[in-house]
Amino acid sequence: MAVTGAVLVLFLVGHMLGNLKIFLGAEEFNDYAEWLRTVGAPAVPGRTLLTITEIVLVVSVALHMWSAISLARRAVRARPVKYAARRRSQASGYATRTMRYGGVIIVLFVIWHLLDMTFGVVNPEGGDATPYARMVAGFQPSRWWITLFYLVALVMVGLHLRHGLWSAFQTLGLARRRRALKAGAAVVSAVLVLGFVAAPVAIMIGVVK
Ligand code: HEM
Repeated sequence: MAVTGAVLVLFLVGHMLGNLKIFLGAEEFNDYAEWLRTVGAPAVPGRTLLTITEIVLVVSVALHMWSAISLARRAVRARPVKYAARRRSQASGYATRTMRYGGVIIVLFVIWHLLDMTFGVVNPEGGDATPYARMVAGFQPSRWWITLFYLVALVMVGLHLRHGLWSAFQTLGLARRRRALKAGAAVVSAVLVLGFVAAPVAIMIGVVK
């Protein structure tokens, strides 16, 4: 869980920072998107590193979900009879309880998101437009319900990450500084979510056109 989670967190941090380039204008943003496709060339053919990244991401998501399912099964096997009293466990909290369906919402979001921003099938500008044009068209005020879906999914990503980071700290045996690490996980997650939220909101209110 922790290793694949760490890969996904690294991707999210890079993706969020990349998205912020939208504030530097169309040319910068599209150049950056082009660089993602050509990075490593001419030493390796174009898209090589991007394809490797995509494979690592797909494998990480699959293993992350597989680990979650096998851990849950192991927990059921270890204690087939449910506790009579629903006592709050040490790890309980809103973020903990939402890990399972939060994860499902995130997967559904990523499927929609790829159709929207990567393939352009559900984007008003279509697949041939530049990434900047797709992004600006995707978050127009008339499509507020899509933006709302993105915001809900991002809150889920934030909660998932907050609990995930905290669990990873515990796995690494760092749980002695409990309060500081809990606060650290919350701050990192909040910064990530706010970084992601900035672009859709700026487009929606017309700051980025
Ligand atoms: C406001 C939030 C987000 C915006 C505006 C956004 C925007 C984009 C854009 C424009 C692309 C296409 C880039 C290109 O074609 O060059 C993209 C790709 C992608 N995004 Fe996002 N994204 C957001 C949040 C997320 C989140 C939260 C996740 C994961 C949980 C995610 C996962 C992906 C993936 C997997 C790709 C495909 C990367 C690839 O082609 O290898 N995105 N995103």
